[in-house]
Amino acid sequence: MVQKKEYIQKMFAGISHRYDFLNSLLSLRRDKYWRRFAAEKLPSGRILDVCSGTGDVAIEVSKRSDAIASDFCAEMLKLCALKIAKSNIKNIYCIQNDAENLSFKDNSFDGAIVAFGIRNVADIKKALSEMHRVVRNGGRIVVLEFSQPRNRFFRSMYYIYFQKLLPVVGSLVSKKTGPYSYLPSSVMAFPKREEFTGLMKASGMMDIRYYDLTFGIVTVYVGSNL
Ligand SMILES: C[S@@+](CC[C@H](N)C(=O)[O-])C[C@H]1O[C@@H](n2cnc3c(N)ncnc32)[C@H](O)[C@@H]1O
Repeated sequence: MVQKKEYIQKMFAGISHRYDFLNSLLSLRRDKYWRRFAAEKLPSGRILDVCSGTGDVAIEVSKRSDAIASDFCAEMLKLCALKIAKSNIKNIYCIQNDAENLSFKDNSFDGAIVAFGIRNVADIKKALSEMHRVVRNGGRIVVLEFSQPRNRFFRSMYYIYFQKLLPVVGSLVSKKTGPYSYLPSSVMAFPKREEFTGLMKASGMMDIRYYDLTFGIVTVYVGSNL
């Protein structure tokens, strides 16, 4: 687990300068819509964005709420802080933090969100229970993550793109071979929808729903702290 953590931290540090560009290119700009949809499932108030990376979710959240952008990768967080300053956004605070050991008090947020991050943490259960711990009773937890499309025909076409073309484009642009091969393999290894909702439930969340977007390429999971 420690090894995975270090590998992930270094991997994101290595691609941080190309991360936003590749996100937008490889998702054909759908990523903006996915993040907006997920952020809109949160209540307003004080929101924690876990695994915030370069901060796009926190920026979306900041349109309605105060946001804390947290990530354990200093290079990603530095770009997040720069982006916020350039856009003159005043209600986002950036902090370096490990998703598995959040440095916040119990019940200190109205909601927490993680986008494309939970797949990367070494201990998913620990990260989910940390999000549950820091959100107040009645608050919400939202997870946006890649999924495996359900339609067999669409899935086989999509996998040609996702497993063959995306690693090539990703490695050419980022000049790193590992990360964009890791992406499809980590998605394939990630728990399926029902299994993941089970993990959310096991961490103490209730009333869990999920929404498939863009033919089930991604799924938004929403849970409540009751
Ligand atoms: C794919 S990026 C997602 C960034 C952002 N949420 C987005 O929507 O683009 C995953 C992020 O998770 C962070 N991460 C992975 N494991 C983490 C952990 N244990 N604690 C904090 N951040 C972590 C990485 O540093 C990286 O910035």
